Amino acid sequence: MTANTALIPLQIHGDDRGSLIAFENGHNLPFDVKRVYYIYGTQAGVSRGFHAHRKLKQLLIAVSGSVTVKTEHDGKTETHLLNRPDEGLLIEGFVWREMHDFSPDCVLIVLADDYYNEADYIRDYATFKREENA
Ligand code: TYD
Repeated sequence: MTANTALIPLQIHGDDRGSLIAFENGHNLPFDVKRVYYIYGTQAGVSRGFHAHRKLKQLLIAVSGSVTVKTEHDGKTETHLLNRPDEGLLIEGFVWREMHDFSPDCVLIVLADDYYNEADYIRDYATFKREENA
């Protein structure tokens, strides 16, 4: 099963007033976006995620604050500190993901290439490992 993660820089339109980042399907995104959601107000000590998707592509951006995203695919574990609004973590395909250490001011925006579909979630780690090795 295909799987990939990558940190990608986002183009800033900056001037002496500050910064602006824009996304356009087909122009500066690695996939066409069907869904956007954001996670904020995460309580101290709370971790989220703990699942994989079979095919979904997502771009995670900490537009405020910071969060640590742990990913695992093909037997390889990575830890990504997201703490800047001009950098996105691309997660494609069969990747286990966990989000830890949200700062109180963290706003994590997620762009996704498909609609929410609970049937596409693998929430059991043992099932993830079994399917990965199948
Ligand atoms: P959940 O899957 O628990 O978030 P995570 O595992 O990424 O921390 O989602 C929390 C709730 O929000 C759950 O009831 C499903 C709902 N939800 C949507 O309705 N649409 C979405 O796009 C997402 C990601 C979640």
